Amino acid sequence: MSFQKINMKLQNSTNQNTDLICQIDKLRIPKHVAIIMDGNGRWGIKRGLTRSYGHNQGVFILKNIIKLAKKIGVEVLTVYAFSTENWSRPQGEVKFLLNLFEKVLNKETVEINKECIKLNFIGDFSPFPENLKQIINSSQALTKDNNEFTLNVCANYGSRQELINAAKNLAKRSVSGEIKPEQINEGLFESELLTKEFKDPDLLIRTSGEIRLSNFLLWQLAYSEIYITDVMWPEFNDDEFLKAIINYQSRNRRFGGIESLSNKSFKNSFYSS
Ligand code: IPE
Ligand code: IPE
Ligand code: MG
Repeated sequence: MSFQKINMKLQNSTNQNTDLICQIDKLRIPKHVAIIMDGNGRWGIKRGLTRSYGHNQGVFILKNIIKLAKKIGVEVLTVYAFSTENWSRPQGEVKFLLNLFEKVLNKETVEINKECIKLNFIGDFSPFPENLKQIINSSQALTKDNNEFTLNVCANYGSRQELINAAKNLAKRSVSGEIKPEQINEGLFESELLTKEFKDPDLLIRTSGEIRLSNFLLWQLAYSEIYITDVMWPEFNDDEFLKAIINYQSRNRRFGGIESLSNKSFKNSFYSS
């Protein structure tokens, strides 16, 4: 197999792993990477600090990972920032997180735009404070024509709610006579999802060692490769991201088929008669 190596200097990378970049096959970069950025709170507490400290550090890490993902040729990065279930946290933490989103957007939108990144929010923003809604709308509007990289931020996002809304909309369209129930197929169903503009993630990364989806992209992750690491999100540096990419590149994506057998060997195989 011929590898096209990527030549670049890594930031936030340890010497031990600077050669990780050399192991990346440029021809097999996942186009769409989704991340459940988990472990901020525990990381803060473990350091004798606060959960909020962990959330702040999480933002710093996200900025690095966006830069690196864009550099190596990822086209879409979808991150889970706030779930529909996260409202159940103590009020103080919820408030801190919503303030943090607003602060980060105010500070970073110009830079994001300069980097030609399209910022896209996925979720129901209606319960957000007015200021946050405004900055979400204005940063989406400012970056909407950028085409080098898309950052999807899932905020007040829940996959079950998304699926229920899709079902409701299809039911309404059926009742109104716009479509027939028999016409509902995967394509039509996907056209009602909040991610309808995007291909499904090729790779899902979850940090902090939890092995669950936590109501994230339940439909879209059907055939994504899943990479779980014990590393907490606030310490998920460039090397950790590269390790996830290298691991992804070692996977054999079969999508239910038997890709490892060539057509020829299939014809000669036991099952072909
Ligand atoms: C992920 O970190 C960020 C959000 C959910 C907003 P957590 O806040 O879940 O941190 P842990 O998992 O409790 O350590
Ligand atoms: C998932 O993390 C949500 C985000 C990363 C925004 P949680 O910390 O909310 O998930 P659980 O509670 O561990 O399942
Ligand atoms: Mg968590």
